[in-house]
Amino acid sequence: MRTLVTYYSLTGNTRLVAEAIYEAIPEPREIKSLTEVASVDDYDLVFIGFPVHSHSVPYKVEQFLKKLPAGKKIALFMTYSSITGSRLSREALEQALVLAGKTKILGSFSSRGKVSAQAMEVLGKSPEHALWTEMAVTARSHPDHNDLEDARTFAQWIVSLANQ
Ligand SMILES: Cc1cc2nc3c(=O)[nH]c(=O)nc-3n(C[C@H](O)[C@H](O)[C@H](O)COP(=O)(O)O)c2cc1C
Repeated sequence: MRTLVTYYSLTGNTRLVAEAIYEAIPEPREIKSLTEVASVDDYDLVFIGFPVHSHSVPYKVEQFLKKLPAGKKIALFMTYSSITGSRLSREALEQALVLAGKTKILGSFSSRGKVSAQAMEVLGKSPEHALWTEMAVTARSHPDHNDLEDARTFAQWIVSLANQ
């Protein structure tokens, strides 16, 4: 089974999770930024990662998910800064599940991800971002060692599901 791990990441959090997933899966495997992936036809299983932006899936990821071939085995992973379990942290994942609705979604994983002090300074001033930037304070150590360990376990579980 040939596996691709692809991710969209502006500040590196989602890339860290992608690398942990990549480490945990067997060969043949590849890891690529989502913007470099023209087609997923060569892969049997595709892990797709993204950060939450303004409660949503980033536009480039949205386009990517919409174009996935029907029936392709995929797994989603996401990083976000709001509090785990809050509606804010679930909305984008729910959106991604709908966008990739034609595929065979084997599972999803999410982890909190820090926001740089600089970005917090700018985004925290806008009312649109007020709620999640307040919550983001406690995300500052993430993704941490345990998050990455969980990502590896998630990856192994998905691979075993894909092999069934
Ligand atoms: C422009 C922008 C908008 C964001 N919007 C949200 C949001 O609505 N909800 C949230 O929980 N986190 C939000 N975040 C935080 C990111 O989702 C989080 O820091 C993520 O781990 C970044 O991943 P990356 O380092 O791979 O880019 C936002 C970050 C940025 C830069």
